[in-house]
Amino acid sequence: MPLGEPPVSFPDEGWVAKLWHEQEAFDEIVHRHSIRVSIVCAVLAREMGWSEPEIVKMQIAGQFHDIGKLDIPREILNAPRRLTPEERELIEGHSIFGGRRIRSLGQTPVLGFVEEVVLHHHERFDGTGYPDKQQGKGISEQARIAMVGDVYSALWEKRSYKDAMSHDEVATRMSNGDERMTPAMFDPDILAALRDALPAIKGTLTA
Ligand SMILES: [Fe+2]
Ligand SMILES: [Fe+2]
Repeated sequence: MPLGEPPVSFPDEGWVAKLWHEQEAFDEIVHRHSIRVSIVCAVLAREMGWSEPEIVKMQIAGQFHDIGKLDIPREILNAPRRLTPEERELIEGHSIFGGRRIRSLGQTPVLGFVEEVVLHHHERFDGTGYPDKQQGKGISEQARIAMVGDVYSALWEKRSYKDAMSHDEVATRMSNGDERMTPAMFDPDILAALRDALPAIKGTLTA
């Protein structure tokens, strides 16, 4: 999927393009990060053997996983300084805020699937995530995929506070851990899929 175009939509999911443009108008960093997450999520779902319509759902969910950030002031979101504990708590609220936003759009199977990803993409396999401290396979598969896709993309990207990393370095850090993360955060099956899909990710995630 080329950057800068809404993902392939289901015919009855008119909200996708609208929300895409709303997110794009809100913040370019969030928007471009989300495009990358949607790409990695789709590659991972394919590697996990998902069917084509399910892969498209995963792609849409990746695109909007951080939609709750639209409820957070951009000065806090992009603050070039250490955040206060209160500010960090507010940012962590984006899972809940985003879940509410998606729910307000109506009830379709795709919206239900996306809402689950939005709510739980910061849960960790070892139970140390948020907002519900879910654990292991008790976390939905789509949220476990989104979590891996989100961390992968965030590490690969250049940010104001960090340099970009190569694909190989990101994969190595996620597999072996580093000063900030442990592989226990990730579903080992999805981590294995990530390693197998690395050539596909390298070919797709280029900018
Ligand atoms: Fe997030
Ligand atoms: Fe994210």
